[in-house]
Amino acid sequence: MNRMTKIDWVNRSLFFNNKELKYLNNFLKKSDNLTQSNELLKFENGLKGYLKTKNINVVNSAASSLEIIALLLKLKKNDEIIIPAHTYCASALPFMRNGAKIIWADIDFKTRVISLDDIKKKISKKTKAIVIVHLYGYAADVFKIKKYLKNKKIKIIEDCAQAFGAEIKGKKVGTIGDFSCYSFHAQKNLTTLGEGGAIYVKDKSLFKKVKGLRHNGHSNFKKRKFYWLPAMGNLELDLIDKLPFKATLSEIQCASGHLLLKRIDQLNKKRISRARKFISHFKHNDVLSFNESFLKKRHVYHLLSAYVKPSKNFNRNTLIKELYDNYQIKCATQYYPLYKYSLFKKYGYGKGKCLNTEKFYNNMISFPFHVWMSEKNFDYMISSVKKILDKYSV
Ligand SMILES: Cc1ncc(COP(=O)(O)O)c(C=O)c1O
Repeated sequence: MNRMTKIDWVNRSLFFNNKELKYLNNFLKKSDNLTQSNELLKFENGLKGYLKTKNINVVNSAASSLEIIALLLKLKKNDEIIIPAHTYCASALPFMRNGAKIIWADIDFKTRVISLDDIKKKISKKTKAIVIVHLYGYAADVFKIKKYLKNKKIKIIEDCAQAFGAEIKGKKVGTIGDFSCYSFHAQKNLTTLGEGGAIYVKDKSLFKKVKGLRHNGHSNFKKRKFYWLPAMGNLELDLIDKLPFKATLSEIQCASGHLLLKRIDQLNKKRISRARKFISHFKHNDVLSFNESFLKKRHVYHLLSAYVKPSKNFNRNTLIKELYDNYQIKCATQYYPLYKYSLFKKYGYGKGKCLNTEKFYNNMISFPFHVWMSEKNFDYMISSVKKILDKYSV
């Protein structure tokens, strides 16, 4: 059946304003440099200012950032990495590819991010690092986990792919642990024309290696007699047994990122106020429960997800089906526990003991939540959900 969808699950998080379009148009018309130049420097400097740290580089995706982090960890055969099973696959794949053993961690049921109690159960002498994913835009309590790990040689990796701009205790996520990644993919709160990312590395000497790792090992020769000898650029490889790769971002992508950085707080503010509006309509109904946190940018609502309390005549699937069939609103379920995917099973990671992860996944709904959804459609979505809950008397 061919049906019209009134509110779709879209693949584009934002649109440019006229001023931004003018800048980008001008760049395309006039710039004689399409990669690795001034726009890259401007975007990186902008990020440094916004995130209040010097140790930031841009790359072509969060997945590439994690790949570089996996290289910098110099993983050995029996090293273990604790990763929540409730996340997107890219939080885990780079570590697997680089030889670590994945240990699946459960989430805290209320916040839907990695549970410190479960970390305590899964930690071992072999634990090399823990990946903390700030999922849905919510800043997990990295400070608390950091405190627990104080005298242990375990690295903290923050996956901020979904949480650019989120803060905890006045500090931006991604600058609290040892390493972090950000994503500027098409659906993210800030996007660099569909793909992009950034990497943070706390340790200064490791941070210095990122530029080479993201660009085929390129560096400058320390001494050159002529500009053309021995070659335009040097190739250095000082990470034992780890070869660099290519993960650069083009100038037009950097220009778009730099422009959007100027209004990311405004965009996130809109997400927060909309989430607040949506949630307030279901405050007195215990069927839908949200991770509600409006405190000082703790949650930048990349997504709006809710747990649907199942009952005899009503559950998550009823809600999704009703919304689609009768109101043409397309919702989604997230995240299929990673250990259930055939890919992870094939590599021996098909088992997980993550009860909250399963309970949440089995009963959750993710509403379409792009920032450019019209106010009219947003209100229509709220009233549609209300009507369905009324229909089932829940
Ligand atoms: C939690 C999480 N980590 C990592 C990624 C990977 O981001 P990218 O597409 O920029 O590689 C995503 C993308 O959706 C994500 O949601």
